[in-house]
Amino acid sequence: LKPVKVGLLGIGTVGGGTFTVLQRNQEEIRRRAGRGIEIAMVADLNTERAKEVVGNAAQVVADARAVIANPEIDVVVELIGGYGIAKALVLEAIAAGKHVVTANKALLAVHGTEIFAAAREKGVIVAFEAAVAGGIPIIKALREGLTANRVQWVAGIINGTTNFILSEMRDKGLDFDVVLKEAQRLGYAEADPTFDIEGVDAAHKATLLSAIAFGIPVQFDKAHVEGITQLSATDIKYAEQLGYRIKLLGIARRRDNGIELRTHPTLVPMSRLIANVEGAMNAVLVQGDAVGTTLYYGKGAGSEPTASAVVADLVDIARLIDAAPEARVPYLAFQPDSMSALPVLPL
Ligand code: HSE
Repeated sequence: LKPVKVGLLGIGTVGGGTFTVLQRNQEEIRRRAGRGIEIAMVADLNTERAKEVVGNAAQVVADARAVIANPEIDVVVELIGGYGIAKALVLEAIAAGKHVVTANKALLAVHGTEIFAAAREKGVIVAFEAAVAGGIPIIKALREGLTANRVQWVAGIINGTTNFILSEMRDKGLDFDVVLKEAQRLGYAEADPTFDIEGVDAAHKATLLSAIAFGIPVQFDKAHVEGITQLSATDIKYAEQLGYRIKLLGIARRRDNGIELRTHPTLVPMSRLIANVEGAMNAVLVQGDAVGTTLYYGKGAGSEPTASAVVADLVDIARLIDAAPEARVPYLAFQPDSMSALPVLPL
């Protein structure tokens, strides 16, 4: 079978990891995908840096549109981030009939309805395992392993930066600002760390989880969003004395009249496994009617953990690329005409 040809838009932390993982594990990946997966083109404004990463293995260009315009490219991997140019490029890639893999939770949480509608019309896949909880395959868990279940709720530590800050403040007595700088240095934080500390990043991810778990449209505008900036070292200490850890949780819960969607600091009894998730690690709990409670734990950020999720999506696409478009079940399975059937409760 012909290899799948991939174009990477952006070769920073995650793009570099994707290239490395695909190279290092290419034999296993070929076996599992049923065909090769090759990064044929890379677009990055910093062409020098891109060439250092890929050498002669792929064509390097500065213009992302050159990747989208190339008829040889089957899949576009968007790793630019943000709502601006990334949105235009994703929509252009879909219009050009390319499958899309993205780690861009902000883009999908805010513009997902438009993007998934465009993808459905074109019969292409938009996959986003890397957008939620980095290397933890939580999207696949919900779509595949738990697909028999009526999900009751999903709750998780889905922002590594804030979990790292809360852990370090408690254990080392360090100041918020000092730990935030360290999280930035370690590459956990968003380009704009306000998204991390104000709970926006976790709420983006909770919004995506709610859409997958409950079949509702992505509705970030309906989410309650609260971060950790109002917490003090004293709050953390007193919580500890009372037997609790403070965790920033993203929560999506089925209620009688809709889905509740909220992100805020939460007191979690220390006896719970999730209370002991420390540093930049992520963990997601899912309660399904058949399976009961399940817990997923792992690295939620960083180069290769996130690349692990990007490559998993590429393998999925490689398996389906020759299938009829109708056989490619969309990740978000809501129908446009049922969009208001299960409203998210404003809080
Ligand atoms: N800033 C994010 C985090 C990166 O800290 O979890 C991964 O999405």
